[in-house]
Amino acid sequence: MQNFYYNIPTKVYFGKGQIENLGAAMKAVSESVLLVYGGGSIKKNGLYDKVIDQLAKNGIRYCELSGVEPNPRIESVREGVRICRENELKAVLAVGGGSTIDCAKIIASGCCYDGDPWDQVVDNSKITEALPVAAVLTLAATGSEMDGFAVISDLSKNEKWGSGNELTKPVFSIMDPEYTFTVPARQTAAGTADIMSHTFENYFTSEKGAYLQARFCEGVLKTCIRYAPEAMEKPDSYEARANLMWASSMAINGICSYGENTAWAVHPMEHELSAFYDITHGVGLAILTPYWMEYVLNDETMWRFVEYGKNVWGITDGTDEEIARAAIEKTKEFFASLGLPSKLSEIGIDDEHFDIMAEKAAAGGLEYGFIPLYKDDVINIFRNAL
Ligand code: NZQ
Ligand code: ZN
Repeated sequence: MQNFYYNIPTKVYFGKGQIENLGAAMKAVSESVLLVYGGGSIKKNGLYDKVIDQLAKNGIRYCELSGVEPNPRIESVREGVRICRENELKAVLAVGGGSTIDCAKIIASGCCYDGDPWDQVVDNSKITEALPVAAVLTLAATGSEMDGFAVISDLSKNEKWGSGNELTKPVFSIMDPEYTFTVPARQTAAGTADIMSHTFENYFTSEKGAYLQARFCEGVLKTCIRYAPEAMEKPDSYEARANLMWASSMAINGICSYGENTAWAVHPMEHELSAFYDITHGVGLAILTPYWMEYVLNDETMWRFVEYGKNVWGITDGTDEEIARAAIEKTKEFFASLGLPSKLSEIGIDDEHFDIMAEKAAAGGLEYGFIPLYKDDVINIFRNAL
């Protein structure tokens, strides 16, 4: 196990009714706040009214930025920075899914930066200060509620980049699974694929000595496999929603990756799909993951696929290679069982931009991944997924 620095500073209020803690928790951070949310789901399910009530009861001054897009745009970030500056707001409160929280994070850092916040998206060293960020999570997927990453798009340039920083980890997150009852089945499936992909990115590491982290990963994966179908069939299953929500945070908050070298591979590839085609992140991941697995399976990496097959899917019969291949097949079948597409062509993606997408993905650190991948490898994986 390699050395690591543990830093998970986010206070978590998890469970039914935890929204009642919002006002006091927010007030302890700031008396003024920018309230950031998406396209209106929080108004439909009643959460917006609860949030406003909490802010009002605690005398917190607020302005709003609404309409944050899935795959949040840099334009929304700039608008948020403008509102904060004009109104001298000293904190940012995101109420929504990963897109809303990510947008809030770069607004928070952008407010303390003397330039265009896009600079901070492409170069995280430019984030040296940030307003405090808090979150009320409504979708189990990205883990943004407990991590320092923010992924922002500039679709005018077909660019989507992630920026990671300790300063933008939420100071607190309110996670009430009941507010995810309204997440549609398609989004539940995509969110689950995202949680599983974060876990895979951490699990498929060349570090063999991080035994405990590998078992954490297997626990997260089994949780998704057990509860995603239930959440889709019974959207108001508290048990299913609660387990998915906590899995979302655990997959990416560091618990599964401390002590390992984890250069991510499928995410940089998917971000190019989103940048060019504005697709749902989890859908792109569900398509690419099994093809990436098939591509990186070799004698050197077999050990981990065998552990995956045995410990996650309970496959015990066969040679190591048979177990590894069966585990990849199970992964494919599972995503398909959630109604997720399994080919790029199913979502209207052809090979037109493969060259430039592969070049940009490869520049995202793929040479340090589970096995090193370069531009041609990425093109091959995209082709296999067509
Ligand atoms: O905008 P509203 O109306 O709120 O609707 C949203 C949106 O349409 C809806 N939704 C959210 N909560 C709901 C709900 N609908 C009904 N009931 C609820 N309770 O779901 C749609 C998708 O929301 P979004 O926030 O875009 O989804 P997600 O949480 O999957 O976030 C995706 C974004 O996060 C980035 C992705 O690239 C993508 O841009 N990521 C962020 C990461 C991070 N910060 O660590 C890591 C990830 O790998 C990922 O890249
Ligand atoms: Zn992701």
